[in-house]
Amino acid sequence: MHLIKTIIILLFSIPAFAGELNEIIMESDIENMKKAGLGHVIYPHKFHEEIYKCADCHPKVFIEKKGANKITMQKNIEEQYCGSAGCHNSAYAFPLFYCDNCHVPVSKK
Ligand code: HEC
Ligand code: HEC
Repeated sequence: MHLIKTIIILLFSIPAFAGELNEIIMESDIENMKKAGLGHVIYPHKFHEEIYKCADCHPKVFIEKKGANKITMQKNIEEQYCGSAGCHNSAYAFPLFYCDNCHVPVSKK
């Protein structure tokens, strides 16, 4: 009995399994970010899970695999990814020119 309980508890503590990913570090183009005077992006996944449904983002806006999306600021401005309708290109969320809300300062990297 104890073994079964332990296995069940372990399964639910795997973040992706429980649907709680918390923070995802994004730094696929860190060189360009540094050139812009910024550090990596910390994506608060759990926060977004709380205000949207999984299907609002996956798979239409973001493929649900870390690093599988080739996100650029150009695409964000063109209303893809973070800049999709109702997101960071709209009145519902802080705008894309608040660089520091998503990117950490370059010195902290
Ligand atoms: C507001 C948009 C949004 C919502 C809502 C959302 N996600 Fe995500 N999810 C993302 C982004 C962005 C990533 C990172 C993709 C990347 O790195 O390119 C991600 C990544 C993932 C990953 C991949 C993790 C990894 O390490 O590879 C899984 C699994 C996932 N999400 C599951 C879920 C589930 C389950 C829900 C609902 C409970 C959910 N997501 C809700 C945006 C969202
Ligand atoms: C809403 C969140 C958000 C805001 C605000 C934001 N970024 Fe980004 N930025 C991202 C994400 C997400 C990526 C892609 C990260 C990855 O794929 O590793 C990115 C990538 C980048 C990159 C590398 C890719 C490219 O497009 O060259 C640069 C440079 C960059 N951002 C600069 C900026 C600047 C400058 C600002 C402010 C004018 C800014 N960002 C504001 C989320 C944001």
